[in-house]
Amino acid sequence: MYLQSFALAGAALCGVATATASAAVQDKVFKHVAVFSIDGLHSSDIPKWVALKPQGTIAKLLEHGYWYQNALTSSPSDSFPGTINLVTGASPRNTGIWYDDSYDRTLWAPKSNCAGAPGAETVLYDESIDYDDTKLWSSPNPTVVGGNINPANLPMGKVGGVCKPIYPHQHVRVNTVFEVAHGAGMQTAYTDKHPAYDLVRGPSGEGLSVGYFPEIQSLDSTNVSQIITYDTSHVNAFLAWIKGQTPANTEIQEKLTGMPALFGGNFQAVSVAQKTHGYKAGSLAFTDPLATAVTFVDNSLGSVVDALTTAGVYNDTLIFVCAKHGQAPIDPTTYRKIDNALIAPATGVNVSQVTADDLAMIWLANQNDLDKAVDGLEKAKAALQIDRIISGELLTREGYGDPKTDPAVPDIIVVPQLGVIYTTSTAKIAEHGGFSLDDTNVACFVSSPVITDNKTYTGKVSTKRVAPTILKALGLDPGALQGVKLEDTDVLPGFGGSDSDDE
Ligand SMILES: *[C@@H]1O[C@H](CO)[C@@H](O)[C@H](O)[C@H]1NC(C)=O
Ligand SMILES: *[C@@H]1O[C@H](CO)[C@@H](O)[C@H](O)[C@H]1NC(C)=O
Ligand SMILES: *[C@@H]1O[C@H](CO)[C@@H](O)[C@H](O)[C@H]1NC(C)=O
Ligand SMILES: *[C@@H]1O[C@H](CO)[C@@H](O)[C@H](O)[C@H]1NC(C)=O
Repeated sequence: MYLQSFALAGAALCGVATATASAAVQDKVFKHVAVFSIDGLHSSDIPKWVALKPQGTIAKLLEHGYWYQNALTSSPSDSFPGTINLVTGASPRNTGIWYDDSYDRTLWAPKSNCAGAPGAETVLYDESIDYDDTKLWSSPNPTVVGGNINPANLPMGKVGGVCKPIYPHQHVRVNTVFEVAHGAGMQTAYTDKHPAYDLVRGPSGEGLSVGYFPEIQSLDSTNVSQIITYDTSHVNAFLAWIKGQTPANTEIQEKLTGMPALFGGNFQAVSVAQKTHGYKAGSLAFTDPLATAVTFVDNSLGSVVDALTTAGVYNDTLIFVCAKHGQAPIDPTTYRKIDNALIAPATGVNVSQVTADDLAMIWLANQNDLDKAVDGLEKAKAALQIDRIISGELLTREGYGDPKTDPAVPDIIVVPQLGVIYTTSTAKIAEHGGFSLDDTNVACFVSSPVITDNKTYTGKVSTKRVAPTILKALGLDPGALQGVKLEDTDVLPGFGGSDSDDE
């Protein structure tokens, strides 16, 4: 019902695409590509927003853009795998990136010096790897590459037989668009919410000319106005980069010699407003704080467009706006919370790690306990309001990989019913990470003044397809991405790719 009325709204907005895109855009080499994630923004938020602000920047971008109405981010849909989808063209089974807070059977705990058995601790790539997460900047060397991460807080692993701290970028198994572009002699820049976004540099660690990673956790993550101030620091970075400059505390691999060929980053305000205020019961319209957050982002994108125009490069820039995750539930009346501490005991066995939000991933201490653990969870299905349990053969069959051979794959994925969050937090009414459409059906479009045939594509399109499209737009080979080769990831519709992943 919801999807049907949504599709109609989309059709009225743009006219549903059938024809192929203009050859002009499909074959154009852009001098610049900018990639923005409005974290949390759903596909269904786009028609709502355009109706509220028909003269806004997002509406104007869509006038000369392609909107992927049925774009789906990764499953799980946490920030790390969602980002990695956009920049590698691959999914967790090939990237090894499952969640910000994850696990790996071949790594050791921070400060452990790889003593004892591996797999003893979580792989926690968030604010906890900073020097001091109560400060926006806490490093003694903030301008050094990776310098905002305290190596003593990193998980450890053996590299060439030697025990070393493992940086987030070393945990990624395939290369990123930043590595390919930088390797081709282009300059690259990225900003996101923690220094842990070192991730996007890719396995070589060399993907970014400059990285800008102020710590969001130093602010009140329930206060939309503080997060808008935080996001403004990212916007100022975008505006500086367009002028070939860098803000203070930038991690600099090499000085910018002009506007980077590839740059991007995120906005967090919408995500925070969704978690704290969300949508109105009944109408599902934006609450005032959510509308304030989207207004801020829309105006910020407007500043970026103005700066590109002033610099004389707007026509030479392809803009992607594609959220790394959505947020669930959209309908506040479906929200229920269940204590995440109930999950491990329900398995009846020892577990190494439970990562829980609006899904739960379980890594068992002993993989031979699988059947017993699944039986325990089956018995707790009602209490934990579980929709599906994915384990064993099903994990492989559904494309998640095999926990017996891959050290990062969870043994069990618990998918709760829509609206359930495994948490004790009283501050949030929505979360992301799960498999529901509210989590995964994200806002995603491309825009450039040279797109003169705006379209809405209604086919199912993974956000993985952004990565090869970025390279194609820059005149680079999409096949230079290892993830694209492994998963045969197509470019987006409008750029020569199929209209739907199912084709
Ligand atoms: C798409 O272009 C047509 C004509 O060029 C215009 O009338 C329409 O408003 C545009 N759609 C959007 C979503 O901007
Ligand atoms: C949010 O933060 C601002 C700025 O620090 C402060 O003035 C305001 O009182 C805070 N709002 C709430 C609800 O805490
Ligand atoms: C869990 O681990 C503890 C400590 O290693 C052990 O004593 C206990 O028997 C284990 N429990 C189960 C159910 O395997
Ligand atoms: C940008 O491209 C559009 C569409 O092709 C064209 O109408 C416009 O004149 C171009 N602007 C500049 C400054 O070249």
